[in-house]
Amino acid sequence: MAAEILDGKALSKQSKVEVAEETSAFTSSSGVVPCLAAVLVGDDEGSQVYVRNKQRGCERVGMTSRLHKLPAATSEEELLGLIGELNGDPQVHGILVQLPLPPAINTERVLDAVTPLKDVDAFHPENVGRIVQGRPRFLPCTPHGIQVILHRANIECSGKRVVIVGRSEIVGKPLAIMLMQRNSPLGPSAANATVTVCHSRTADLAQVTRDADILVAAIGSPKFVQADMVRPGATVIDVGMNRTESGLAGDVDFDAVREVASHITPVPGGVGPMTIAMLLKNTLEAARLAHRAEA
Ligand SMILES: NC(=O)c1ccc[n+]([C@@H]2O[C@H](COP(=O)([O-])OP(=O)(O)OC[C@H]3O[C@@H](n4cnc5c(N)ncnc54)[C@H](OP(=O)(O)O)[C@@H]3O)[C@@H](O)[C@H]2O)c1
Repeated sequence: MAAEILDGKALSKQSKVEVAEETSAFTSSSGVVPCLAAVLVGDDEGSQVYVRNKQRGCERVGMTSRLHKLPAATSEEELLGLIGELNGDPQVHGILVQLPLPPAINTERVLDAVTPLKDVDAFHPENVGRIVQGRPRFLPCTPHGIQVILHRANIECSGKRVVIVGRSEIVGKPLAIMLMQRNSPLGPSAANATVTVCHSRTADLAQVTRDADILVAAIGSPKFVQADMVRPGATVIDVGMNRTESGLAGDVDFDAVREVASHITPVPGGVGPMTIAMLLKNTLEAARLAHRAEA
């Protein structure tokens, strides 16, 4: 039987309704409208689409957003100057620096310059450290979206073998840390997994992935995960967003793997929309933190 599709688009709509309700209550009681400042450097087409979607998301849940669009030739010092201004601006609660930045700019230096209190992507070392220690301020958007997808589909992580292919700072590594913790904001069933992380040097990759109850592909290679890499009945989460000649493709061969797995996320319409919903959640949390600090 073909796998059940985990509909991230529908779930993200539901999450946005929840964030909109919480935002409305927060704004009524505090008089504060949460504001996300997006910083976009250069003309990368994909980045422009992502930023537009994030801004639209803000509008839909009752937040405001600002776009700081800078030319590709912007210097690192200029960008750091803007980040400094946004850090100090009390009207701005969340700061999002859209990646990738042009090669001449040191991405680490820029991301480190965002104050941890407005770091709604959870990339700052202080926020990463807090996640590692199991006391997060913000959760990184894509891993959090994956955790919510699993939780809302009643797919337990506790005691399960999770294999993550990909060890990036944005997806693979933080997800591994979150799923191996004793607890999560969604409760212990969304944590307590036995996690294995694979990468380009992993030997016998298919043998490792076939051991997974839950397999997460965050590789950046279209249709990389084939049916023979998946244990029958496993849950498969496809993080990949690869622009190909025939459109957007995931890291999983959806049609083939669907015949083997019990649950699967599609691309598009799986993890992607949840990433934005979790960003909005973090922006509300950042506004709450700022309001509490002022009170
Ligand atoms: N849906 C969303 O919201 C969302 C968010 C973020 C990213 N993405 C997408 O997710 C994908 C991954 O993104 P990322 O930022 O995590 O990518 P990344 O930084 O490029 O990392 C890719 C990871 O995959 C591993 N890898 C590459 N080839 C491999 C192979 N043949 N066998 C095993 N492992 C291999 C790499 O191993 P090494 O470390 O050894 O190089 C690396 O750890 C991309 O398609 C990206 O567009 C989607």
